[in-house]
Amino acid sequence: MSNYFYTKQDRQIQPTSDPNLNQKAQIRLAQLWHDRDRLNIPDYFLDNWDKVALYDPSGDVDKAKSLLINSNEGAYHLDNQLNDLTGKEWVKFSCSWFIFNALKEDLQAEKALDSTTEHHPATFSPTMIAEFIRFFTKKGDKVLDPFCGIGSTLEACKRTERVGYGIELNPKYYQLCLKRAPEFSPNIFNHDVQDILNLGLPQIDFCIASPPYWNILNRSTKDFKKTRQKKELDINYSVSQQDLGNIEDYDLFLEKLTQIYFNIYQLLKDDAYIVVIVKNIKKSGKMYPLAWDLAKSLTTKYVLKDEKIWIQDKIGLAPYGYPYSWASNILHHYCLILRKET
Ligand SMILES: C[S@@+](CC[C@H](N)C(=O)[O-])C[C@H]1O[C@@H](n2cnc3c(N)ncnc32)[C@H](O)[C@@H]1O
Repeated sequence: MSNYFYTKQDRQIQPTSDPNLNQKAQIRLAQLWHDRDRLNIPDYFLDNWDKVALYDPSGDVDKAKSLLINSNEGAYHLDNQLNDLTGKEWVKFSCSWFIFNALKEDLQAEKALDSTTEHHPATFSPTMIAEFIRFFTKKGDKVLDPFCGIGSTLEACKRTERVGYGIELNPKYYQLCLKRAPEFSPNIFNHDVQDILNLGLPQIDFCIASPPYWNILNRSTKDFKKTRQKKELDINYSVSQQDLGNIEDYDLFLEKLTQIYFNIYQLLKDDAYIVVIVKNIKKSGKMYPLAWDLAKSLTTKYVLKDEKIWIQDKIGLAPYGYPYSWASNILHHYCLILRKET
């Protein structure tokens, strides 16, 4: 007879040997199968239902609320309204930092799609964003990237079977988004995100983006500009006045970015999370704590839940400041996690 009930013994998930518990679990599983649509059980379990067992760590089959296929993968809790992850996967993502460097496969796929994808000066990886999407949404949920660049978030939505929405000011990058995620074409806008409330967007389940890091690109080193210009790559996002990356004044930039996220607040479903990926930056020997200032300014509306620090450890160190003064190479970003709590 198959094992339909698992419990925790000696700190390990083990099948029960009690035939009564097994039989009770089998009956409960049949009931869960019957109620599967209402319970919103992830496809992975539905597709493998003949292998699914019920799990309760304390051994109470009547109170058991977790589904298990393979104890190494962990169990899925039926009360999980946030995502489709097992407890083990959930906990793994909860680490407050992670190391991630650009992936060759992602870059190759972008280039194969269109050689001009590398024109954009600051993209993030769909593989990295897919991890956030998997944590903060369920399959089929609506995910918004209000600064979608060449569509990395939209690509991550494709991979995770979520519905992507994006806004991008630069028509060249917008076209690349359409090419990269044609299935989301009606949801992708070549528009100024400051006008987001007039785009007729639906209610959004999760928002993730990396906005311009103030006007950092306009202040890049001569080397950065020279190397990119030589390869005919963009050295900034655009020359448009609506481009947030062209705002000179730090306080004005912060105010405008904050207002954009306040507008997005109106589009979010209750309890939705947003993730804003930003960096603290330096200008003329002074640090501008953009990540911290933004976290503070957004808390007028959102609840700041956490930070997850993204570290890049494969970027060469430049001798900034040497041999006169302290100046770090900033190789970490803050993934600010905020929530709409009403
Ligand atoms: C850091 S990049 C995002 C890149 C994106 N995550 C990707 O992987 O392709 C920021 C983007 O914001 C866009 N942007 C700047 N100001 C904007 C505005 N007012 N409305 C919409 N997009 C804007 C820029 O053109 C740029 O592509």
